[in-house]
Amino acid sequence: MKTEVLRVDPQRPEPELVARAVTLLERGDLVVLPTETVYGLAALGDDAVAASRIFEAKGRPAYNPLIVHVAEARDARALAASWPAAADALATLWPGPLTLVVPREPSRIPDVVAGNGPTVAFRVPAHPVTLAILKALGRPLAAPSANRFQALSPTTAAHARKTLDGRVALILDAGPCAHGIESTVVDCSSEPPSLLRPGALPLGALRERAPTLTTRSIHAIDDREPLPSPGMLARHYAPRTRLVVVRPDAVHDALRELGPRAALVTRIPRHREAPRGATLVARLPDDAPGYGASLYATLHHLDEAGLDAIVVEAVPEDDAWLAVRDRLGRAGS
Ligand code: TXA
Ligand code: MG
Repeated sequence: MKTEVLRVDPQRPEPELVARAVTLLERGDLVVLPTETVYGLAALGDDAVAASRIFEAKGRPAYNPLIVHVAEARDARALAASWPAAADALATLWPGPLTLVVPREPSRIPDVVAGNGPTVAFRVPAHPVTLAILKALGRPLAAPSANRFQALSPTTAAHARKTLDGRVALILDAGPCAHGIESTVVDCSSEPPSLLRPGALPLGALRERAPTLTTRSIHAIDDREPLPSPGMLARHYAPRTRLVVVRPDAVHDALRELGPRAALVTRIPRHREAPRGATLVARLPDDAPGYGASLYATLHHLDEAGLDAIVVEAVPEDDAWLAVRDRLGRAGS
C-alpha cells in the first residue's frame, strides 16, 4: 500500500484535507491523525472490519483494547451501556488528554475494539484537526498510538512513518504533539474510579472532580498479577537501545560501565559539561510537562544513533512526575 503524507494546518485544518481523511476512513481505511498527546492510528470505531485492520498494522495482540475517540462527551455517553457518576464528573475535562473507561454496549462498539471485554475506553481529543474530522465523520474513531506494538509512541508524523509507512492509507502531519505523552486513563466502570495509566492530565485535576479516585492499580504493577489494563504490560513504550534509569549520584558509574558509546539524558541545567563516557548528552526541561513533551522525541532520536546504551538520570519522586516516571520505568524494563 502506498502511504500518502499530507501537511495540515494544526489550527485551521484545510477543508479538503478533512474531507480526504473522512472519505478514506468511511471506506474502512487506516489514517494516522495528530492529537494533543501522541499521533493516533485511526479507523472506524463502530466497524469491526475496519478496527481489526488496526491490530494487523500495529502487530498488536487482540486482547489489547483500543481507545474510542469522539467529538463530544454526549457522543461517548450515547455509545456507552451506562454513564457512571465518575465519568460524568471527569468528562468536564474534555476535550483533553483523559480517557474514561465505562460499561460497553456491544451493539454499538464491536468486540474487537474492546478486546472482547465488558468495558470501552472513550476520549475527546483536544486537537483541531482530529476534532474537525470527528465532527465531519459523525462516527467514533478507534485509535491507539501510531506505532508498532511495544515500540515508542510517535510525537511527530515522521515517527509514525518510521514503523507504519506502507501499512496505512494516509498520514496527516500537523507538526509535533503538544503534550508528547499519552492520555491519563481512568476506569469509571466500578466504584471507586481508579487510575489505570498516569498520563498527560495531572492527578490534581482528577482528584478535584473525583475525590474517591484510587491509584492502587498503578502502584501494584506486577506481571504476575492479572492486568487491570492490558496496556500496562511492563515492557512498553520502549526504544530498541538498552535504557537504564539511574539515581543522579550513580550517573558516572553507569556511564563507565555501559560506555563507551552511551547517551545521557539529564535535565537543564545539570551536567552542563558532558560527563566522561557520554557520547551524547540530551538536556530536557526541568519541569514535568516540558520534560514529557520532549521525552519520546529524544528517545526516538537517541535510538537512531546506534549507541550501546541510554542512561537516564532519575526524575523527582513527586506526583507531578508520575507519568514521566511510569514511562521511563517501562522503557527501561
Ligand atoms: O493519548 C492517547 O491515549 C493516545 C492517543 C492516540 O489518543 N492513544 C493511546 O492508545 O495511547 P493506546 O492504545 O496506545 O493505549 C490505550 C490504553 C492502553 O493502556 C489500554 O490498555 C487502555 O488504554 N485501555 C483501552 N481500553 C480499555 C478498557 N476497556 N479497559 C481498560 N483499559 C483500556
Ligand atoms: Mg500505545
